[in-house]
This record gives sequence, structure tokens and C-alpha cells, in this order.
Amino acid sequence: MNIGIIGSGTMGSGIAQVAATSGCNVKLYDTNQAALDKAKASLEKILNRLIEKGRIDSNEKNRIQSNISYVDNLKDLADSHLTIEAIVENLDIKKKVFSELETYVSDNCIIASNTSSLSIASIAASLQKPERCVGIHFFNPAPLMKLVEVIPAIQTSKDVLDKSVQTIKDWKKVVAVAKDTPGFIVNRVARPFYGEALRIYEEGIADLPDGEAGFATIDWSLKTLGGFRMGPFELMDFIGNDVNYTVTETVFKEFYFDPRYKPAFTQKRFAEAGYLGRKTGKGYYDYDENGKIKGSLDVTSSAVERSLAESIFERVLAMLINEAADALFLNIASAEDIDNAMTKGVNYPKGLLAWADEKGIDWCVNKMDELYNEYHEDRYRCSPLLRKMNREQKTFFN
Ligand code: NAI
Repeated sequence: MNIGIIGSGTMGSGIAQVAATSGCNVKLYDTNQAALDKAKASLEKILNRLIEKGRIDSNEKNRIQSNISYVDNLKDLADSHLTIEAIVENLDIKKKVFSELETYVSDNCIIASNTSSLSIASIAASLQKPERCVGIHFFNPAPLMKLVEVIPAIQTSKDVLDKSVQTIKDWKKVVAVAKDTPGFIVNRVARPFYGEALRIYEEGIADLPDGEAGFATIDWSLKTLGGFRMGPFELMDFIGNDVNYTVTETVFKEFYFDPRYKPAFTQKRFAEAGYLGRKTGKGYYDYDENGKIKGSLDVTSSAVERSLAESIFERVLAMLINEAADALFLNIASAEDIDNAMTKGVNYPKGLLAWADEKGIDWCVNKMDELYNEYHEDRYRCSPLLRKMNREQKTFFN
């Protein structure tokens, strides 16, 4: 299968590696020769590391490398069966590239975008044959993250959707099909992990008796009691406060300012101050030159009052479950795909809907109602689906 990748940055080069590893014939295109050179050099490094770890041998390395050619002319993608675009997140630029690409490729070439935040419908509208357009959203780093969200636009044909899903499965990825709505699945359902943690911090309830900010306490609660690999503040520092804030703000605006997605001033100020996290050496935590947090993050249970830690974890978990349930309520994706998305796309320790079953639907409803009664903010409204399931004593999976 001939695959054309447009944009050889972080995502494009990762997707090229995935497709080439699966035996596809890949052409990786970029307007910037330096980006192409960098992609080639970085693949060489990655494959050498895999050899050192004994995961592949030099024949496999040669096979993968020879499956990729690096091109600087969009016309070179003319014989593609599928193209995936991963250039700058700018609708006008994407539309221009898509309409030019369509003049070169055959009628049945699928034209996909890896966009995180633009609607697939708006990108598809730039094509003469919009039914051939689909969202194929990888996670960073593409070769390591198992999940790929596939997003049909309202224009997308069933055949194009089916073929796209099959191709991504052939690349040994887990597919979650999502409706063309802001944030798709992961970037929507994950919002409370950051947003509720920031809100808890802003309320000061997690601050230590000596007045120290509660970042480490909140992170400790989610990691130790929740089993998350990273706490919200560590993760925001890792992603970058600029990047993470922009995603939240985009989702908030795209949802017509639904208060549930309201960004936090705290994060905005951190981004404005240049406290972006690991990449600038300072965020919620300070980092050494190797990107490691300075000092210890090991807040022990002696420093954190257990009941406080539990209430923090349960508040964030209830908000996450509520968001996942509401995504199901609004048919954004199936229950299986929503749970797979969170475990395979952002490494959550459990699927949120399975977690809801485990905690009990009544627990979820009660937690949301407690928050709503406390704050009287729309942000804490319980999903109608949870309420209905509670009435009917239903569970998500059994
Ligand atoms: P990047 O900045 O690393 O790479 C973009 C590449 O596109 C650059 O090499 C640039 O030279 C090239 N480019 C720009 N305009 C071009 C044009 N008109 N024609 C050809 N090449 C062009 O960006 P990154 O992070 O790889 O993101 C690419 C896309 O993937 C964006 O739509 C982004 O929203 C999406 N995405 C990014 C994720 C991430 O974590 N970085 C995760 C999932 C999706």
C-alpha cells in the first residue's frame, strides 16, 4: 500500500515509521528540507536504539528505512492510496494543501488529517470529493502510543471510514471511532484531569500547613490512590503549560463556552510567565538539566491527610467519569471505544466507564450531586445518562 505523509515533524515522522514498519511504501513530504533531514536522522537513531535493546535486527532496520522515501514535491504523492496530513494546525494552510493534493492523486485516494483541534468537516470542505476525507488522529509518540482515533466527517463515505479503520488496525493500532466534535474522545474526556486539579489547587484546599502550594499533594492523591502514572501537575509540566492551556481554551471555545471546560487562570499565568514546565526548567515544579524534578515528589501519607487525599482523588475521578458518561450519552463513541481511548491513548489505569461500574453508578451520581450542591455551578452537573442508569440500576458493561 502506498502511503503519503504530509509534514515530517514530530507526528508525521512517527506515523511514517509506523506505516513503514507494517510494510507500507511511504513517501514523507515536507516543504522544509531541514525537517526532512531531521526526520531521517531521528529515524536512524530510533532504529539503532531498538537494535541495542534487541527489539529488531539490522535487516529489520534496513527494511523499515528502505520503505520510506523523503520528498519535497507534493506531486510525488500522486500514487498514494492513503495520505495523512500532519502539518501546522492552521485551517487555511491545511485547506490549501488539501485542494492542491487532490489535483495529483487518483479518485479513490483517501485524504486524511491528523488534526487535534480542527473539525474534519471544515477540512473536507476544501476537497472536490469531500467524501474521501477522514480524521486519523495519532497520539505522541505515534510509534509507542497504541490508540488512533478515526473520525468520519459528516461528508465521509462509509467505505472510506471502513478502509481507514482496517488500515490502522493492520498497523497494529487500537482504533476508537469518534464523532467529529471538539477534542474527539481523549482531548474531551481528559479535560477534568487537569481542570479539576487546577480548581482544587486554586481553592487552596490541598496546600500544606506551611503554606506550600498543593501541587504535590494533588499529584500524590491521583497517583497513589488512583494509580495514574503521573499526577495532573507533573503531566501538565510534561506536556507544556502553553500546549495544554491552548487545548483547554480551544475545547472551551468550541463548546460554546460550556463552563465544564472553563480554563484556569493559574495555568494561563504559568504559560504567560514562561513557566511552561519541563522544557523551560520551571513549571509547577523545578527541573534539573536532565528534565528531572528537583527535590522529591514523594509526599508521604504522613504529610497528606488521608481523608483530604481521598476527597481530592474522588472529586477528580467523579468528574472524569461524568465526562466519559456524557460522551457516551451524546454518542461521541461507543462505551468500549471511550474506555480504550483513555487506557490506550493516555495510559489511564482503568477505563472510566468500567471504573464507574466498579465504584457503582449511585456513587458517581452522589459525588456529582454533592459537588453541585456545594457550588451550584453548571460545571458540576451530573450527566443525564448516569442519572437514568442509576434509576434503572444499570451498569455500562455487565
Ligand atoms: P511539527 O511542527 O512538529 O511538524 C509540522 C511539519 O509540517 C514541519 O516539519 C513543517 O515544516 C511542515 N509544514 C508546515 N507547513 C507545511 C506545508 N504547507 N506543506 C508541507 N509541510 C508543511 O508539528 P506536529 O506536532 O507534528 O503536529 C502536526 C499536526 O499533528 C498538527 O495538526 C497537530 O495538531 C497534530 N497533532 C499533534 C500532536 C502532538 O502531540 N504534537 C498529537 C496529535 C496530533
